[in-house]
Amino acid sequence: MAQILVLDDVQEAVNAVRRVLEKRGHEVVGYTDEDEAIDHVNNHPVDLAILDIKLKKMDGVQVLSRLKEIRPSIKVIMLTGYPTHATVEEAMRLGANAYCMKPIDRSEIESKVSEVLAQETHIELLRYPDKAEVSTQDILFSSLTNGVYIVTVQDQGQNNGVTTPWVTQLSFDPLMVMVAISPLRKCHEMITNSGQFALNVLASGQVDVASRFALTTGREMDKFEGVVPQRTPAGNPLLSDVFAYVDCELVKTVAVGDHSLFVGEVIGAEVLDSTLSPLIFDPSHYFWEIRP
Ligand SMILES: Cc1cc2nc3c(=O)[nH]c(=O)nc-3n(C[C@H](O)[C@H](O)[C@H](O)COP(=O)(O)O)c2cc1C
Repeated sequence: MAQILVLDDVQEAVNAVRRVLEKRGHEVVGYTDEDEAIDHVNNHPVDLAILDIKLKKMDGVQVLSRLKEIRPSIKVIMLTGYPTHATVEEAMRLGANAYCMKPIDRSEIESKVSEVLAQETHIELLRYPDKAEVSTQDILFSSLTNGVYIVTVQDQGQNNGVTTPWVTQLSFDPLMVMVAISPLRKCHEMITNSGQFALNVLASGQVDVASRFALTTGREMDKFEGVVPQRTPAGNPLLSDVFAYVDCELVKTVAVGDHSLFVGEVIGAEVLDSTLSPLIFDPSHYFWEIRP
């Protein structure tokens, strides 16, 4: 299932595409207004945008260019009545993955969408504004694959959580994982004190949760303010709607560079909703938010 945005100046055309794709199990939002569509992509992890070339205020190629600035990994299908060579060429140059002829043919749109969603995402680092040079750090962020986790902890009555994709399994017997947490994080001292933590495995679509836990620090605020979190069996805070949790007992801490490796022995784990899939780390979702 993918998150798909449809933008067409005619509401009926939006509804027609939406009906076809919802039947295929996708989550579809539709807009007739360019600014609202752009705003939606700014705030949601949209996988694919389907854009009409002819719109009210801008043309589809201009919207494509804006969406690629905001989310370089977004996939795009252009809809066009009369594809001129120049428009199609310009759309492809700006990163469109395919185009479909109007009026929309149900089987054509279904097959183009599944084809485009199956294509590998190539994050073009040079698309990041102000990035004249791609650093080695940028290459690591875009070529190593990770999930996204909120490592939660409770210490001295405070609940807290830190966003980290730097998690891996370490050992079968005993079952162990490691997470890399900087000593600058409030969670670092809390995990050290409490001797345990939980990995909350975010589900696809929970980029907003990852951003919230990454952009605030428990030193300055209560990230759970107003919410009484559920608990894992070991008593760590459990976030809503996550794919799974893994409870860990801290068995070793190793200082490595500017982070610490927290080695956790797994004392419990559960998939909470097997219809979901884990969120995959994509640097373009957070690029401007990552601080040392
Ligand atoms: C995409 C992304 C990935 C991050 N990965 C890590 C990480 O692996 N380890 C870490 O210590 N901090 C990481 N951070 C930073 C923390 O999430 C952030 O500093 C958070 O505010 C710390 O909260 P705390 O001070 O309440 O512990 C990451 C931030 C972002 C945006």
